[in-house]
Amino acid sequence: MSDNISGIIFNDGETYERYMGVWSRKVGAQFIDWVKFPNSLDFLDVGCGNGAFSVQIDELCSPSSISGIDPSPAQIEFARSRKINVSSSFEVGDSMDLPYQNEKFDVSLMALVIFFVPDPKKGVVEMARVTKSGGILAAYAWDVNSGGLPMEPMHKIMREMGIKYPLPPSTEASEISEMKKLWESIGMTDVETSTFHVERSFKSFEEYWAISSLGPSVIGALNELSSEVVDDIKSKLKETLERDKYNKIVSRAFANAVKGIKTGKFA
Ligand SMILES: C[S@@+](CC[C@H](N)C(=O)[O-])C[C@H]1O[C@@H](n2cnc3c(N)ncnc32)[C@H](O)[C@@H]1O
Repeated sequence: MSDNISGIIFNDGETYERYMGVWSRKVGAQFIDWVKFPNSLDFLDVGCGNGAFSVQIDELCSPSSISGIDPSPAQIEFARSRKINVSSSFEVGDSMDLPYQNEKFDVSLMALVIFFVPDPKKGVVEMARVTKSGGILAAYAWDVNSGGLPMEPMHKIMREMGIKYPLPPSTEASEISEMKKLWESIGMTDVETSTFHVERSFKSFEEYWAISSLGPSVIGALNELSSEVVDDIKSKLKETLERDKYNKIVSRAFANAVKGIKTGKFA
């Protein structure tokens, strides 16, 4: 199993927490509010990473249990160290080959994961297999192809400078029409979609850079560049980032979400 997906690096739960973990929870709260999970359900968090969303399930959904699975051993180790108040387990594994019996969970979901799965349909069919009839299948993901990633300002500058950076292998799976099509194609019913906009502010450019340059999809690319080129990226970013009336940096992102019910036969 791997901590590195197509050059996007997930090898440090603590670093993830400072950058993507904070972004993740901002969307996660809106997603939970939108799905309206009943209490006392058994949740499967596919691609749980360092457990950033698992903690929100625990805090906001009154679950019976939480199981998490992710290919990155380092992220799973971090997830296991978190305080979760209900029965929980975290293991290393892949969404396309889930090590669970049929119909084990009331809810299976992917938080910021579907675009990393090489064959998203295979992953979602696996999620449906391990979900009970009448259970909920849901996902949300940054709308990569429309500029929804939190690191889009840095990516835009890199594109303009002709610098390559890694993207997840299945970005089209984060488009809202693709999500709906996929859920319906495997027989989910009551399929609904939504888009969530989030923002984060940073007290200075130095704080923004210290946190954002650790993002999983830029850290590897920045490490390959000379310090002159990195300085050039920094000064271009400093000029272009939005500021509020207190001169704080404002950074925005948006994610698409899908939910549906497994009724009877699927896939
Ligand atoms: C952006 S992180 C999201 C983590 C967490 N769900 C959150 O909301 O913060 C994406 C995660 O997807 C995982 N991942 C990548 N490929 C996967 C696959 N084929 N099956 C399951 N998870 C995968 C990565 O290891 C990483 O932890």
